[in-house]
Amino acid sequence: MPDDRRNEYRGKNPRTRATPQRDSQAGPGSSGPRTYARTSQYDEMPAKPLPPPEVRSTARQQMYDCFASCPKGLEDLLFEELQGLGAMDMHKASGGCSFKAGWPLATRITYWTRFAGRIGLRVAHGPCHNEEDLYRLGLTVDWWNWFGLTQTFRVDLTTLGANFQNPRFAQLRLKDAVCDGFMNKLEQRPDISVPEPDVRIFAAATPTEASIYMDLAGENLFKRGWRIEKGEAPLKENLAAGIWAMARRSPAAQGIDQFLDPFCGSGTIVIEALSVLCDRAPGLDRPFSFEKLKPYDEALGKALQNDANLRFNAGLDRALNEQHFTWHGSDITQLLVDIAKENLCRAGFEELLEAGVVNFSQRDALTTEPWAEQGLIITNPPYGERVRAKGADIPDEDEAYQRLFKEYGDVLKKKFAGWTAFLLSGDLEIKKTIGLSPKRKTPLFNGAIECRLFEFPLAAGVYRPRSTGEEAGPAEAAQN
Ligand SMILES: C[S@@+](CC[C@H](N)C(=O)[O-])C[C@H]1O[C@@H](n2cnc3c(N)ncnc32)[C@H](O)[C@@H]1O
Repeated sequence: MPDDRRNEYRGKNPRTRATPQRDSQAGPGSSGPRTYARTSQYDEMPAKPLPPPEVRSTARQQMYDCFASCPKGLEDLLFEELQGLGAMDMHKASGGCSFKAGWPLATRITYWTRFAGRIGLRVAHGPCHNEEDLYRLGLTVDWWNWFGLTQTFRVDLTTLGANFQNPRFAQLRLKDAVCDGFMNKLEQRPDISVPEPDVRIFAAATPTEASIYMDLAGENLFKRGWRIEKGEAPLKENLAAGIWAMARRSPAAQGIDQFLDPFCGSGTIVIEALSVLCDRAPGLDRPFSFEKLKPYDEALGKALQNDANLRFNAGLDRALNEQHFTWHGSDITQLLVDIAKENLCRAGFEELLEAGVVNFSQRDALTTEPWAEQGLIITNPPYGERVRAKGADIPDEDEAYQRLFKEYGDVLKKKFAGWTAFLLSGDLEIKKTIGLSPKRKTPLFNGAIECRLFEFPLAAGVYRPRSTGEEAGPAEAAQN
């Protein structure tokens, strides 16, 4: 690789993000926040009348209670990930985890998390029984230390059983608190932008208390920045990362380095898996809200970026030089295969495609073949109204699905003995159709759809031909 590319990650569109500019209005020195520290220059000044001391926000130095949300079912993975990134005092909740972190760590977590959807840094917490309590809580925040008058903002509210007469009005009262906070301090207020705010504030209220958070993510973190073409019902990237992590930690996956997604669609599982295998930061190519907040430190931001670039370069080099894994993705629809390749290249993995470390091809899943004695199939096959089973020319969707999965079960048994298949499906009774008994079923939510990640061990030579789709031979039953 040429030397001049060493500090850029490689791909079609090398990263050239400008470091976000801070807002010059109402900077840390322009107003009096509740906590401050003098600069050392004042300590050394002689004893004579002084100009008012420079007042600084200590937002960067404080520890914060934070919350990370995630798709339901990924809480354990998120918990471990946060722990690995250095978060403290974590607690699992349904659909997320709370933790403690200082500003630099919270931004690093936002940049590196593969499983979270949003990260919020708590700026207020207190009793809250009605709309006016929420307004008063909002007034306790020194908003002008977080963002400036020229930045737009929006407010969101999640009511976790809160007794607001009108949740929409409660949300407006919180917005009023932000505006009034600015007016009281600076006699001006920033504008609102609902579709494209610079700054997002969100609150969560129970029947007795509320918390207000500065959002560090901006757009939901499942958006990694590489997807332009969506394809058909694509998985969210953080869910795909979760599926990959769950499959990889199965005992059956230890030492396995050959991977196949035969219903790959736009390539989400493949790209998320490659990101882990090549140490590509999920936040490498997207902007974040934290970059627009006042505590943001450009030097720290650049360091985060440089470190991520170096790690990705090293990961790509290793994948190319050692070829320590192979990934194949296929789909019956050529357009989706093209989209998957484009997404892969935008994520910076073009060299892996050229080197044959990863391949995409157009193919009916029923015609896929193993190329190694052992491997993992990790996939999200079609199921439900949005994604049809394709291939056989059968107009009735249910019949087409039944037929595809009966035949695909036979393909797995006959051709892929020695492999292990991980299928994310909303068909909770899939074993009846596919004719295989899962060793493990992990509940996961694909948006609102309750799914399972089914693990099917495909042992060699243990399957008997079946007479109906409902029967499982004794050898299959023994695998339960
Ligand atoms: C739920 S989508 C997969 C979405 C994918 N995980 C993503 O994130 O883009 C199911 C995919 O199965 C494909 N498909 C349907 N029938 C197929 C068949 N017989 N063989 C291969 N692919 C098929 C569809 O084209 C669709 O892309």
